[in-house]
Amino acid sequence: MTSVSIDPVASDSAASDSAATKPEPASPELVALAEAVARRRNFAIISHPDAGKTTLTEKLLLYGGAIQQAGAVKAKGEQRKVTSDWMDLEKQRGISITSTVLQFDYAGNTVNLLDTPGHQDFSEDTYRTLAAADNAVMLEDAAKGLEPQTRKLFEVCRLRRIPIFTFINKMDRPGREPLDLIDEIEKELGLACWPVNWPIGSGDRFRGVIDRRSKEVILFERAERGRQSAERRLASDAPELATLVEPELLAQALEELELLDGAGADLDLELVHAGELSPVFFGSAMTNFGVHPFLDAFLELAQRPTARSSSSGSVDPIGPGFSGFVFKLQANMDPRHRDRVAFVRVCSGKFEKDMTVQHARSGRTIRLSRPQKLFGQDREVVEDAYPGDVIGLNNPGMFAIGDTLYLGAKVEYEGIPCFSPEIFAWLRNPNPSAFKSFRKGVNELREEGAVQILYDLDQSKRDPILAAVGQLQLEVVQYRLEHEYGVPTRLEPLDFTVARWVIGGWPALETLGRIFNCKTVRDAWDRPVLLFRNDWNLRQLQEDHLDLELCAVAPVVSGVEPIAL
Ligand code: G4P
Repeated sequence: MTSVSIDPVASDSAASDSAATKPEPASPELVALAEAVARRRNFAIISHPDAGKTTLTEKLLLYGGAIQQAGAVKAKGEQRKVTSDWMDLEKQRGISITSTVLQFDYAGNTVNLLDTPGHQDFSEDTYRTLAAADNAVMLEDAAKGLEPQTRKLFEVCRLRRIPIFTFINKMDRPGREPLDLIDEIEKELGLACWPVNWPIGSGDRFRGVIDRRSKEVILFERAERGRQSAERRLASDAPELATLVEPELLAQALEELELLDGAGADLDLELVHAGELSPVFFGSAMTNFGVHPFLDAFLELAQRPTARSSSSGSVDPIGPGFSGFVFKLQANMDPRHRDRVAFVRVCSGKFEKDMTVQHARSGRTIRLSRPQKLFGQDREVVEDAYPGDVIGLNNPGMFAIGDTLYLGAKVEYEGIPCFSPEIFAWLRNPNPSAFKSFRKGVNELREEGAVQILYDLDQSKRDPILAAVGQLQLEVVQYRLEHEYGVPTRLEPLDFTVARWVIGGWPALETLGRIFNCKTVRDAWDRPVLLFRNDWNLRQLQEDHLDLELCAVAPVVSGVEPIAL
């Protein structure tokens, strides 16, 4: 396996700032950069376990020529399922890393598929990955419709106004009425839908889809598993259709389409890109039906890498200066070397191997000597990367989640917010003589973003409260404290499932007086956080205090040092 290193070199940010080049719109480099950006599409799939994400990913990769044979990704999926043995964490992380980003070329485009891990390893990383995505594909099982994890991930997409494409999967099996599924998305998520194709029948009587724009029927032929289905197309009034599709099924699909067209909405790309209108596709990933039309339409409609907001305004991806931010850290990918990899989403400019860049938070200058690209288990050194791409950098403890790297004029991207944790536990250190190591470990792991740390208001209770969105995070923290810092710890679960930050901070809380059925704690930025046993307790407090404003995602704090343990 290739090892990577970044070589910190002398800090000299001023010199580099002054060396910033002025944009020259017509320079060949910028033209090449603009072309690379125009070709790029980046997305993450959001779904509930078992909706078919692994299967869909595999089919997409087959079309992209990135894998030769069906089953390559599936094998990983299965491996992931059987390695939920937490004691085997190295292996576990080895597996989740394999699919951090999958890049493939298709029809002249470079597609980056960012992985959001399945439920066994659901953690804040899953949310953070969406911070690096330009588009999301919401995958639903046609029989189940919206499911809990999809809803959670959708909320994060909404926060960032990411365009959402919906793929309704498993049409070859009996499912819910298509109109019903669309209605659920529109009503429950408040997301308008624009079906790009419409199914003819379902389950045993699934016959294909009608392409809404061309009005062609794409016939479903059960392809051998893993094969690309032929996807024969016929005009919806072609006479042969009568022998291929039951007339009543076709009539019903056409009638429903008419109903949709009658509603009058257009496929407005601006609304799609604002995350307000979702193009919807029906298909069956397992039988490979509808994946090809989906991929083609997705590439046509998806958002390219766009400008991102930073402390110095919006940053255009097509500019002379490289910039990017860290959205995920992965430790111990190779246990023999105790390496840590920081995943950087390239936001602007061209990234080149051996580039010397600025680290915005520390002001240091660093040389990125062996950046890597990951595909599956393989790592290769990247020579260059463009906006929308993800690179992996060796991280000797220098990078934290949300850090910006840049070249030229200073930019600092908005950090990544703290997402509402759902699992809470006291972290006990049974050995007081190991307190120094315990403190070091807790502080470093918090800084890395492995877990959120909350503190009791009672100063005498010095132990931190770990707060996470997934159980895996707690397991990882305990494991790493023991193996990297030499401190075995004990977890004492707390009976809370909901956390809310108080808008208006401590003064807002003081005006309420005594509050019931919740516990007030402080976060690492000394902000009040209320912990509730359940949603019902939360609603009760809100009903009792109508002026109290709470939020589920903590606003990003910049320029203030967090409280250390
Ligand atoms: P996930 O990554 O979202 O968790 O889902 P995954 O792709 O592993 O799919 C979950 C199950 O659903 C798999 O069945 C898979 O074959 C099946 N599946 C996925 N897409 C479709 C589809 O379009 N139609 C039908 N009928 N099934 C689909 P499994 O029994 O868990 O595994 P396997 O026996 O197929 O390997």
